Amino acid sequence: MIGHLLSAADLDRDDATLVLDTAAQMAAVSGREVKKLPTLRGRTVVNLFYEDSTRTRISFEAAAKRLSADVINFGAKGSSVSKGESLKDTALTLQAMGADAVVIRHPASGAPHRLAAWVAGSVVNAGDGTHEHPTQALLDAYTMRSRLGRVDGLRVAIVGDVLHSRVARSNVLLLATLGAQVTLVAPPTLLPVGVDAWPSEVAYELDPVLGKADVVMMLRVQRERMNQSFFPSAREYSRRYGLDGRRMALLPEHAIVMHPGPMNRGMEITPQVADSARSTIVEQVTNGVSVRMAVLYLLLSGGTKEAFREG
Ligand code: ASP
Ligand code: CP
Repeated sequence: MIGHLLSAADLDRDDATLVLDTAAQMAAVSGREVKKLPTLRGRTVVNLFYEDSTRTRISFEAAAKRLSADVINFGAKGSSVSKGESLKDTALTLQAMGADAVVIRHPASGAPHRLAAWVAGSVVNAGDGTHEHPTQALLDAYTMRSRLGRVDGLRVAIVGDVLHSRVARSNVLLLATLGAQVTLVAPPTLLPVGVDAWPSEVAYELDPVLGKADVVMMLRVQRERMNQSFFPSAREYSRRYGLDGRRMALLPEHAIVMHPGPMNRGMEITPQVADSARSTIVEQVTNGVSVRMAVLYLLLSGGTKEAFREG
């Protein structure tokens, strides 16, 4: 496999399938009483988080620990970043401490790519600005495959604040690689310039898309990235693009509802939908640990199946 995971576009179909298959084996380990493999013993994984996170940060830590790696958690708050230290100098400091892999979340799009040029170890993008979040796309594909049996040929609607969503961009890229058909549903103000060139369709109305969807993925309205008004009011947004019980009833019986989290309950999704049997939101978090174990394992141990032997 490749030495870094910076973009979902780094993965061809075989790479992505290998990650998902490996994650399935990792999930079996997570079901054991002793949830640990010796695979990455003696290796060091640094979690470098310049932006807030709950799921991604904790699941990378759990994933590295389940593979017996040493884990260093670095948050920009409370570090010498507040004294003005640059990303490059921070990276070189981590490098000097022997990091084999650096997992980075950063508010600037492209920061993981810069980091990859400065450190010798593998770099994993855990979300950069509005650009990409490839391990989220992998755990989403894993969840679709485990719930619906395949990704190829699925019709996936990704709904809401596409403009600010690195989850949407990474999902569109990975799902196209895996053969799914993606429709982005959003108001024109919340679609990025150049979306016509993405391997997906665009729709402005939600109801007509739902009847044919196998998967509906709701996106959070990212108010922290909005410096202007993108829609008339929260109420109007929910009325047009929110998923409530009435809309959920338009989905085919087998269809699932996804959300990367964190949710704005009552805005893009109602509690009734988020907590329904069709919702995979909690399952996505569980699958995130297995997928991140697979990514760290494939990047750091050369991708042989040896590691799965009980040790
Ligand atoms: N947690 C995801 C991200 O960091 C989605 C979101 O924040 O809405 O991209
Ligand atoms: N889905 C996701 O990336 O969640 P966090 O921002 O909490 O890590």
